[in-house]
Amino acid sequence: MVRLLIFTIVITLLACCQGAVIVDFGHEHISVAWYSNNRVDILNDSHGNRNVYSKIAYRCKHQDLIYGQQAQSIIGNQLINTISPLYNEMEQIENCTIQQDFTSLLALQIDNLFYKLDNENNTRISLTDLLSLDSRHSSYFIIPSTFTPYDIERIRLILPEVQFITKHKLHAGMILDAVLKKVIDIKDEYVMIDCGAHETAITKVKMINGTQFSIVSSNVIPLSIHQLNKKLAGLVGSVRGVSENHNFMNQINELRVKLSSNQEITMFIEELEKNVTITRDQFNSVIVDELKPLENVLNNIKSELNENATIFVIGGLSYTPRVKELIEQTVGNYSIRLSGDQYLMESAKTLITLDNMLDSPMNIIDIIPYPINIKINEQEIPFINNEHQVTLDQVYNIPLSKTNKLEFVADIDGTKRSVRIYSIEKMEKDTNATIYFSSIEKGFVSSIQIENSTIQLIPIFNSSAIKEEIKEQREKEQTKRESEAAIIAKRQEYEMLLNDFKRYITSGIDIENLESIFVDVERRIVWLEDQLDLNLEDIEKEYNEFKTKYEKELALYFDFQMFNLRMETMGTKIFKVIEEMRLLRMNQAQEYAKKINDAVQHTSNRKSDRESFEASISKLYDEMTNKVHKKKRSITLRGYWQIFGYVMVAIFVILILYLSFFKSKKSTVTKRPHIKHH
Ligand SMILES: *[C@@H]1O[C@H](CO)[C@@H](O)[C@H](O)[C@H]1NC(C)=O
Ligand SMILES: *[C@@H]1O[C@H](CO)[C@@H](O)[C@H](O)[C@H]1NC(C)=O
Ligand SMILES: *[C@@H]1O[C@H](CO)[C@@H](O)[C@H](O)[C@H]1NC(C)=O
Ligand SMILES: *[C@@H]1O[C@H](CO)[C@@H](O)[C@H](O)[C@H]1NC(C)=O
Ligand SMILES: *[C@@H]1O[C@H](CO)[C@@H](O)[C@H](O)[C@H]1NC(C)=O
Ligand SMILES: *[C@@H]1O[C@H](CO)[C@@H](O)[C@H](O)[C@H]1NC(C)=O
Ligand SMILES: *[C@@H]1O[C@H](CO)[C@@H](O)[C@H](O)[C@H]1NC(C)=O
Ligand SMILES: *[C@@H]1O[C@H](CO)[C@@H](O)[C@H](O)[C@H]1NC(C)=O
Ligand SMILES: *[C@@H]1O[C@H](CO)[C@@H](O)[C@H](O)[C@H]1NC(C)=O
Ligand SMILES: *[C@@H]1O[C@H](CO)[C@@H](O)[C@H](O)[C@H]1NC(C)=O
Repeated sequence: MVRLLIFTIVITLLACCQGAVIVDFGHEHISVAWYSNNRVDILNDSHGNRNVYSKIAYRCKHQDLIYGQQAQSIIGNQLINTISPLYNEMEQIENCTIQQDFTSLLALQIDNLFYKLDNENNTRISLTDLLSLDSRHSSYFIIPSTFTPYDIERIRLILPEVQFITKHKLHAGMILDAVLKKVIDIKDEYVMIDCGAHETAITKVKMINGTQFSIVSSNVIPLSIHQLNKKLAGLVGSVRGVSENHNFMNQINELRVKLSSNQEITMFIEELEKNVTITRDQFNSVIVDELKPLENVLNNIKSELNENATIFVIGGLSYTPRVKELIEQTVGNYSIRLSGDQYLMESAKTLITLDNMLDSPMNIIDIIPYPINIKINEQEIPFINNEHQVTLDQVYNIPLSKTNKLEFVADIDGTKRSVRIYSIEKMEKDTNATIYFSSIEKGFVSSIQIENSTIQLIPIFNSSAIKEEIKEQREKEQTKRESEAAIIAKRQEYEMLLNDFKRYITSGIDIENLESIFVDVERRIVWLEDQLDLNLEDIEKEYNEFKTKYEKELALYFDFQMFNLRMETMGTKIFKVIEEMRLLRMNQAQEYAKKINDAVQHTSNRKSDRESFEASISKLYDEMTNKVHKKKRSITLRGYWQIFGYVMVAIFVILILYLSFFKSKKSTVTKRPHIKHH
């Protein structure tokens, strides 16, 4: 029963490794972590959730079909049809249910993690923000739920370099991490009991020579939340023949959780329209058979367990009192409960930093959590199952009767799924086939040989079609993002012009029909603010219409803007000259500053005033530069001493304030936008 896994982890961590994306891809939820600089951050989606639903089907007739319980009930009802696996295209699908080979959607969902983690607001978030460059190029690790090699193949279409962390390796990583974090002392033996939503996995790990962890055995048994819920549902009563009604199963799950802390629960079951009372004893009595496999495995382990072994228990089901009791009765008290996404992700990181850990250089036995049968001539023969796992890098001889097709079929909770189909030509008689596996994680069978025959893999899905679809979708999104950016830019341009123009007409400049123009500009601003989904043409149309309508006024405004720019430059030049005069100890500095001050005080924004102001300022500036030149010629500077130029500085400040009146007006105008109505 106990299978030996010659697979050791030496406790030597690499100093560091580059960033990596770690995805915990569960049946019900997905969480994504980004690992860099020795830190592991679990990424949030747009709502701050660390978990996103693991969807294998998308919006369909206004219902989200979600993998796990919900999707299973649909598959159970055989509402099978095809859908385009692409996320955004649901409107086009009328008659939609889950695709027969629904696993392809797992791969597409991984793609979604990059592009649509925030699929509500259609923005790329966390992941790519964090990585700044296309995260597709970083290392990528996935902790899969029960993926078939078929799923894995599809995921590789999108992430060719992805590596998978199998459950028993993750368990070893969790133990190793607990040791490294000094949560526990180094012991000779550890047992990890992982009671999950869809299966229970038990991994035994041994410490060798104080430096190496070795996975001694790994068992996967079908004890699951799903299974116990089914039993409890049977106890509660059936709902018009639909035992897997989603709402009903949710209530059952709630009932099961409540029974963990209560001896008796009365609950109003909506589907039955009545109150149902269930005691813990009743529940315990209906799950006896379900717990048998766990008991058997634990008894087996117990018989060879070191008295000082540490037992870890993880997973939601471990809170169920009967499961807890059973573990305590067989392997003794356990005190260590390792849990939480963060811990899991950090353990995965620890594994990743181990040299060659994931490449599994040694001869390992890989565990497939469900049986695989070989189907020949419509007959299935068992091939891989719990008792008979596969050792990699070995050749298996399988006696075959004459056939022209060889199919590998996975039996997942009673659902048969084709994982590989081969066509066989020129097979003449019954013979032995040799089957070779190099890595189960990297694909199912590496090679098959049957004497005198030609064997070809029949693709069960068209990968080039999927690739095309993904590419197309990506291009579409890119175009969409670009056009959105263009709309935003145009909108901002128009909005800025409107606001500046409004400020201009309300700053005392002689414009005819000021009142009606003001009202119109205000209306345009409000319109722009209200219309949230304008397209580029809409905005351009309005913008051009505005420009044409106020051609004359806008020309004045642009003229005024140019004046302001010129004055800004002039202000800087004058400041420099006054500064120079001050250094040259010229008394005229004060005099000129006063003149400039006067000019500033006695002008207005009107065009004619502006022109004469500009002319007089330029004249003053010329005079000043001439004087400075003269002075420079006649004086040799002997020393450097300072005149306190407070006055001039003050005057200069006034000048600058005037020249940059646009900026100061901005705030006042915004504060009282309805000036000059009369
Ligand atoms: C996720 O959200 C939590 C708070 O909800 C925050 O503390 C954390 O920094 C966020 N993580 C990332 C990676 O943004
Ligand atoms: C997404 O859009 C909705 C509605 O526009 C908004 O309420 C929500 O805050 C947005 N979420 C994020 C993260 O921007
Ligand atoms: C779904 O498709 C099938 C076969 O094309 C058709 O018979 C059925 O009426 C369709 N159902 C709906 C709801 O459109
Ligand atoms: C433990 O160490 C000893 C001495 O170095 C070595 O001979 C032995 O093979 C090691 N045992 C294992 C299981 O590696
Ligand atoms: C169910 O029980 C609750 C309280 O225990 C009670 O208020 C309610 O009327 C009951 N409903 C039915 C249908 O018996
Ligand atoms: C268990 O631990 C105790 C105390 O550390 C030690 O005396 C004993 O030899 C250990 N037993 C085994 C089987 O290692
Ligand atoms: C488990 O713990 C209980 C109380 O904490 C104790 O009475 C019992 O002897 C322990 N059992 C074992 C096998 O250590
Ligand atoms: C393969 O072909 C050879 C020569 O034609 C023949 O003798 C042999 O029996 C064939 N083997 C099988 C298994 O059909
Ligand atoms: C097939 O393999 C079995 C043992 O694995 C062997 O006994 C048998 O002779 C083989 N048959 C052929 C036709 O090679
Ligand atoms: C797969 O899809 C591609 C692109 O859509 C198509 O050209 C090709 O013929 C398809 N192959 C098969 C075997 O259907």
